[in-house]
Amino acid sequence: MDLYCVMGNPVEHSRSPAIHARFAELTGEAVTYERRLIPLDGFAQGVRAFMAQGGRGCNVTVPFKTEAPGLATECSERVQLAGAANTLSLRADGSIHADNTDGLGLVADITRNAGVPLAGRDVLLIGAGGAAAGVLGPLLRAGVRHVTVANRTLAKAQALVQAHGPLASLQKAELLALAPQALEADFDVIINATASSLAGGDVPVAARVLRPGALAYDMMYGPAAQGFLDWARAHGAVPRDGLGMLVEQAAEAFHIWRGVRPPSAQVLQELQA
Ligand code: ATR
Repeated sequence: MDLYCVMGNPVEHSRSPAIHARFAELTGEAVTYERRLIPLDGFAQGVRAFMAQGGRGCNVTVPFKTEAPGLATECSERVQLAGAANTLSLRADGSIHADNTDGLGLVADITRNAGVPLAGRDVLLIGAGGAAAGVLGPLLRAGVRHVTVANRTLAKAQALVQAHGPLASLQKAELLALAPQALEADFDVIINATASSLAGGDVPVAARVLRPGALAYDMMYGPAAQGFLDWARAHGAVPRDGLGMLVEQAAEAFHIWRGVRPPSAQVLQELQA
């Protein structure tokens, strides 16, 4: 059995072990996947200890995603743009390759599972923290026409937009940073990458951003997404939570590690049931 894990703090709630166990079962890959609670100041040590035990790869979750690239020998272009990694490949020669599959997971869930095309679409990304940074590059690569990044702290949205300027030009996409109260346009797809529902706060944008029938996506799932999903439904949008993104980012990590694509849509259906 090859050993993998998810490292985080807290990590008890993580659904990654169950998802990867099911992927291994369905693909016949010889994979064991554990959950590791890592002390807040012990990430580098945790990764080294895991490598010493023969660990082949790990997923990285809160709060270590931005620390992870610093440990890597090589970082993918996605990691360099996002400044964060969620997937480490641990090699026998001691080298570490870092990737970020969050954005690929989001794009796969929207386009394949929800059946909503992104090419040519106008997208609103709410938030400019780690979660938003992880998905902006893959959204641009998916061929969107326009992305506005709206954040309470405008300077953070501007910094994210500036870092992604060259990729946006390459993709011939418009990219704009705005304060939430300055939003006047409406959008085909609205993505909530803030923790606003968690804090019990209001949705940080006005309902006029929703085009009729727009997809309103919260990157969280479970109770943390509920406020945003209720708001979206009440204003005629199609709500979707981030469970599919979770499964799809795991599938991308599994593919990086094993070279095999697991049946992610089936596993998502099983979890939803
Ligand atoms: P994560 O890794 O989950 O993105 P983060 O990097 O701390 O966490 O970023 C949190 C994001 O949620 C930020 O965009 C934050 O806005 P600020 O940059 O202005 O802090 C946003 N956020 C958190 N609570 C919010 C609230 N109640 N209303 C609006 N935005 C909120």
